[in-house]
Amino acid sequence: NGLNALAKTQGKLYFGSATDNPELTNTAYTAILDNNMMFGQITPGNSMKWDATEPEPGTFTFSGGDQIADLAKTNGQLLRGHNTVWYSQLPSWVTSTSWNATGLTAAIQRHVSTVVGHYKGQSLSSSYSWDVVNEPFNDDGTFRSDVFYDTLGESYISIALIAARAADPNAKLYINDYNIEGTGAKSTAMQNLVTSLKSQGVPIDGVGIESHLIVGEVPTTMQENLEAITALGVEVAITELDIRMTLPETAALLDQQKTDYQTVISACMAVEKCVGMTVWDYTDLYSWVPSTFSGQGAACPWDENLDRKPAYDGIVAGLQS
Ligand code: G3I
Repeated sequence: NGLNALAKTQGKLYFGSATDNPELTNTAYTAILDNNMMFGQITPGNSMKWDATEPEPGTFTFSGGDQIADLAKTNGQLLRGHNTVWYSQLPSWVTSTSWNATGLTAAIQRHVSTVVGHYKGQSLSSSYSWDVVNEPFNDDGTFRSDVFYDTLGESYISIALIAARAADPNAKLYINDYNIEGTGAKSTAMQNLVTSLKSQGVPIDGVGIESHLIVGEVPTTMQENLEAITALGVEVAITELDIRMTLPETAALLDQQKTDYQTVISACMAVEKCVGMTVWDYTDLYSWVPSTFSGQGAACPWDENLDRKPAYDGIVAGLQS
C-alpha cells in the first residue's frame, strides 16, 4: 500500500521522490523514503551534479552519489541520474576557463562518459535514466546562454547525448526542463529539439517535465502537451513535481493544492508514454522552495512534521484516474 504500489497497479513504472545526502541522517524521514511501496524511484537532488562529481578537471568524486545509488539498490528502487550538463552548480574551472570548441567538447565528453559510466549497471532495470542535459531553454524557447551554448551552439546537446549512450547503452537518456508542462513557446522549442535530434540520429529517449508549479496555476493543457511530446517517439516523465503557495498556508490553499496535485498526476496517467512521476522531495521539511522564493513554500505532499497533507489524497485520486 502506497503511492508507488498504486502507480504500478495502474500501469506506470514508478512513483518516486528526490532526496539529498544530508537528509539521510533523519531516520523518521528515511523510514518513509525507504519504503518501496511508497517510492519506487529516487533522484539525487544535488550529489550527482558536475560540482559534486568533478570539482577539479579530471578528478572525480562519487561518494555522495554512491550513497544514494546504494540506497536505491538496497531499497529496491529505480534511480534517475541527475544531471550531467547544466548551466548551474558547475565548478568554477568549467565556468571560468575561456574555452575553445575542441577543449569544451573534450571536457563534456570526459565528464558525461565518466559519470554515466560510473553508474552503469547500478540500476535495477533498463528503466534507469539520466537527465543528460538539464534546462537548455529560456522561457521564450530560445536556447539559454551559458558556457556550453556560447561555445558550441546547440551541438553541445548532441555531444552530451552521444557520450551518455556510449557510456551506458541501457540508460534512458532525457532532456529535462521546467515551464514545459503546458503548451507554449518553451514546449514547442523542446519538441523541435527532439525532432531535430531524432532526424540526425542522436540518441534521445525522453523528456523530463519538471513541474515546479504554483497552487491554482496548473496549466490546463498539460495532458495535450504530454501527448504532443510523446507523439514524437519519446517517453515523458514528471521529474520534479512540487506545487508551492504563498504562505501562510490555509485550508483553502491546501484544498486547492490537493486538486492541483490530482490534476498533474491525472495528466500523466492519461498519457500512455508518461512513464512515472517524481516529487521534488516528499516533505516540506526538505523542500528547496522557501530558500529560493521568499514567502512561499508548503509545496510538498507531506508537511514539515512528516504528516500527509490533503495533497497526498490528491495524488492517490490522480493515480486512480
Ligand atoms: O553545498 C553547499 C554547502 O557547502 C553550503 O554550506 C550551503 C550554504 O548555502 O550551500 C550548499 O549548497 C547548496 C546546495 O543546494 C546543496 O545543498 C546551494 O546553496 C543550493 O543553492 C542548492 O540548491 C539546489 C538547487 O537545485 C540549486 O540550483 C537544491 O537543493 C536542489 O533541490 C535544486 O534542484 C533543482 C534541480 O537540480 C533542477 N531543476 C530545478 C530544481 C530546483 O531548483
